[in-house]
Amino acid sequence: VRSDPFSSRRCRVALLGFGTVGSAVARRLTAADTPFQLTQILDRGAAQKQRAAPFAGVSWTSQIEDILLSDADVVVEAIGGIDPATDWIRSALVAGKSVVTANKQVIARQGAPLLALAARQGRQLRFEAAVGGAMPIVRAIGEGLAGDRIVAIDAILNGTTNAVLSQIEATGCSLDAAVRSAQARGYAEADSAADLGGDDARAKLAILCALAFGLRVDASRIPAVSCAAIAAADFARARPRDATIRQLAHADYDRRSLTLTAWVAPVDVSAASLFGRTVGPQNAALITGEYSGEIGIFGAGAGGAATAVAIIGDIAAIARDRAAIVPAPALTSNFILKTSDVVFQTWPPVAVEVAC
Ligand SMILES: NC(=O)c1ccc[n+]([C@@H]2O[C@H](COP(=O)([O-])OP(=O)(O)OC[C@H]3O[C@@H](n4cnc5c(N)ncnc54)[C@H](OP(=O)(O)O)[C@@H]3O)[C@@H](O)[C@H]2O)c1
Repeated sequence: VRSDPFSSRRCRVALLGFGTVGSAVARRLTAADTPFQLTQILDRGAAQKQRAAPFAGVSWTSQIEDILLSDADVVVEAIGGIDPATDWIRSALVAGKSVVTANKQVIARQGAPLLALAARQGRQLRFEAAVGGAMPIVRAIGEGLAGDRIVAIDAILNGTTNAVLSQIEATGCSLDAAVRSAQARGYAEADSAADLGGDDARAKLAILCALAFGLRVDASRIPAVSCAAIAAADFARARPRDATIRQLAHADYDRRSLTLTAWVAPVDVSAASLFGRTVGPQNAALITGEYSGEIGIFGAGAGGAATAVAIIGDIAAIARDRAAIVPAPALTSNFILKTSDVVFQTWPPVAVEVAC
């Protein structure tokens, strides 16, 4: 990780949230080789957590005002949820901080106005960690493929669900047992409904639709089929066809008819395909561009250490060029979200074959 070689002052970072992601970020930012300086940690359990994880030179607080009034250059938001995260990100930008967040729900709902605020403030809002964990899909779409016109995205975006499905596939266990196993390995939260039901992937897909197609998509309107009823017998039925089952997020946009087709659902995929070979808490994406064809990207989609990689990459980008202004995306709501012939309701009435 490199910071700005021309800057004499180390980039100062304040961290909101000391949970799975925040503690991994704190460990990286306090390692001997870090070019950054972790100055503050906010958490509602600050006193107790400070005792368990003392870091030299870092002050702890549970008051957001302490962060807003501090001299931190960058605020990392890793508390999750919508409130108060949205308000705290906004307040940090208003206070002249750049912000790095892992929060897909906030970016899916409020990304555009927050990015506009950041640009007005001459600060940056970066969110690579909000989609795909360590898999750098936000930069791939927003920067690497900016020279193409993206027409479709197919992706495994929820590491928890992928860990659960690939565990059932490998062992023939029940969904409940696979969820418990994922929880024991730290891949799943106590309540996995948002993962299995598709809400988490829908929020991430809405972010990718904004980046790839310039569309303002209400994540709750994206059709989704839950994976919660999948059983070992479904995998047994798919196996003779050399297929397996994955929760896929799909979006394609027809710019002539202004029609977006988007869904999140468990679908049959070829066992030999990129998606079939994606196991455990990994993510994968195939991005189809008009000029470049298919670009594939694959990697660790969840977990504190992997997510911290994306966050620290964003801090590094800010530290490299603190004066950079990232223009807010111009999103349009003038499109049709095609839902009529994508009637996914229960597994398994629909099995979409994804050729890849
Ligand atoms: N975990 C992953 O693999 C992963 C991957 C990619 C992105 N993310 C995103 O990263 C963010 C953090 O996830 P996480 O897994 O690290 O969650 P987490 O383990 O629950 O950590 C959140 C931390 O913030 C604290 N917190 C929550 N609300 C707060 C408030 N209002 N005031 C002060 N402290 C508060 C929590 O305290 P308590 O312990 O008291 O609740 C906890 O210490 C989320 O947006 C998540 O979607 C997570």
